[in-house]
Amino acid sequence: MSGRPDLLQTGPMMGMIEAQLNEHFTVHRLDAPDAEATLADVGPRIRAVATGVGSTGGGARRVTDALMARLPALEIVANFGVGYDSVDAEAAGRRGVVVTNTPGVLDDEVADLTIGLLLATIRQIPQAERHLREGKWPAGGFPLTATLRDRTLGIVGMGRIGRAIARRLEGFGRPIAYHSRRPVADVPYTHYPELVALARDVDALIVIVPGGPETDRMINAEVLAALGPKGVLINVARGSVVDEPALVTALKDGTIAAAGLDVFAHEPHVPEALIGMDNVVLLPHVASATHVTRNAMGQLVVDNLLAWAAGKPVLTPVPETPVKPAG
Ligand code: NAP
Ligand code: 8YV
Repeated sequence: MSGRPDLLQTGPMMGMIEAQLNEHFTVHRLDAPDAEATLADVGPRIRAVATGVGSTGGGARRVTDALMARLPALEIVANFGVGYDSVDAEAAGRRGVVVTNTPGVLDDEVADLTIGLLLATIRQIPQAERHLREGKWPAGGFPLTATLRDRTLGIVGMGRIGRAIARRLEGFGRPIAYHSRRPVADVPYTHYPELVALARDVDALIVIVPGGPETDRMINAEVLAALGPKGVLINVARGSVVDEPALVTALKDGTIAAAGLDVFAHEPHVPEALIGMDNVVLLPHVASATHVTRNAMGQLVVDNLLAWAAGKPVLTPVPETPVKPAG
């Protein structure tokens, strides 16, 4: 290929990504003052998109079919994040556009944080710390809490990260079960084809499935009722996977005991009702947010784009899209 391909960046990305994009591509920014004018001006020349919706991953602009329709020369969308629900991958596939994501390099980091969030929620670690900081200790110790010791642990999603979470949970010596559409051949945990049945049989439910239409609000009032009054919900997947109003109701009326949430339906906005509750632990989508892991994710975004630009197969295409090097 001759010259530097025109690339559209949908929002701010990590400095190490932006530096490499600027070195190898002619970068146009969709978060510049007039996105419409940018699209009208350079849309027909754009061959690559770099995107990622999230805290440090990029701007709010989703890569929709409508946006791709404005980019007739588009060949690749490189997404910062293993989850690519902010990219219409099926539409990309129909258009012959390859989409890449960042699988694998974040599994251990996300699993570590999930364990931390599980323990923080059940043992009320942030609440206990607040008790100390607020000077309440001299007047009385922090109340006794629930325990992980008497629980059966359920995981919704047994993919790369679900497995990494399960491996860590094995160390706690508690029974582990999971739900996914297909059983996983090489794991020793009990598979539940029905989510409600899993929720009924466990006391902690950890959610780690992709976002998108197929999982939209799958953790609904029925699942929460099945989880029951001792139950704890941990969501490290996507906010869209949980029916947030149903969760607020379930936490208020004791349908479930507590929740630990790293993700929300309308990030960065978190329902006031949740912020006001003491039986929740709330994190600002930080499961992969360490220097080491975010750098590895960022490098994979760049490496996919460089492979494509060099006419080589991309490294991590998503299943919905064809593998297509630059011609
Ligand atoms: P993965 O390897 O593709 O695993 C996805 C798992 O979900 C599989 O077990 C899959 O099994 C199951 N699944 C998919 N659709 C389902 C459905 N409709 N019903 C039930 N199970 C379903 O993905 P991963 O790498 O583990 O990542 C999972 C997700 O975690 C990402 O897509 C992302 O949204 C989220 N994530 C969040 C953070 C964070 O910062 N909080 C960080 C990384 C990832 P079947 O296909 O057999 O159903
Ligand atoms: C990132 C994530 O926080 O990989 C994912 O799917 O949710 C996280 O690792 C997010 O992609 C940042 O934009």
